[in-house]
Amino acid sequence: MSQIIAVHSYRGGTGKSSTAANLALILASTGHRVALVDTDIQTPALDVMFGAAVPPAGRSLADYLIGRCEIEDAVYPAEADAGHDGFFLVPARSRAAGSNEIMGRGYDVGLLREGFDRLIDSLALDVLLLDTHAGFNNETVTAMACSDSLVIVTRADRLDLAGARETMALAQRLGGARISVAVNMVPDGEVHTRLRDEVESAYDTRLTAVLPYAPEMVSLAGERLFSTAYPHHPLVAGYRKIISEVSNGTTGIRR
Ligand SMILES: Nc1ncnc2c1ncn2[C@@H]1O[C@H](COP(=O)(O)OP(=O)(O)O)[C@@H](O)[C@H]1O
Ligand SMILES: [Mg+2]
Repeated sequence: MSQIIAVHSYRGGTGKSSTAANLALILASTGHRVALVDTDIQTPALDVMFGAAVPPAGRSLADYLIGRCEIEDAVYPAEADAGHDGFFLVPARSRAAGSNEIMGRGYDVGLLREGFDRLIDSLALDVLLLDTHAGFNNETVTAMACSDSLVIVTRADRLDLAGARETMALAQRLGGARISVAVNMVPDGEVHTRLRDEVESAYDTRLTAVLPYAPEMVSLAGERLFSTAYPHHPLVAGYRKIISEVSNGTTGIRR
């Protein structure tokens, strides 16, 4: 059985794309068949993070949504060099399909859900991982609605926590995804009791993982994924903790 995991945050810049990319890489490196889909058409990131994977004129999710290609035409081996032959990437948009075009024309949201199902079948996936745009646009809400597990990435500050109730209310309305909350960019990787209480009460759930702020990520300048470059870093231990919680009690992911 396959599993759909969406990574969401209320605000931008909290670390969704970094988290999604590293979760996907760790899952692929432990033998799972994984596709990572960038549903953030407005501010895509995965085409940059996996720069070598996507040819400049390649197709994308946006091309599929506006009817220019099949979803299968927008799939690329994510890390062919690293020998993960069950790891795939679907970039959000290409040069051929700009964001203006898709936002101007609109598209049938049903196509997105159908595309996810097709990817699971045609790539025989264990896990479909969805990176999202911050907030609640069409693609993000569809990704949330399709997911079995929702990983919420937040910083422990007032601005991010202000979105917690709205996020949780929507997730519940969309029905039953299992929710994990990861606090990212935590100085020294320590969340003090008062802050932990504040975050847990805002999301009304126990924290899944505390992800430390890692200055090394900045110096990587996006050239390699963090978990490849620093496999023993506490941040990678945090990513693994998310996977362990998400896979707990499900059949799609072996631990
Ligand atoms: N734990 C972390 N420590 C340090 N920098 C981080 C961490 N997580 C993410 N970043 C950096 O923060 C910026 C925003 O992250 P990104 O994953 O693009 O966020 P989002 O997708 O939510 O907008 C990126 O430059 C990324 O490298
Ligand atoms: Mg992003």
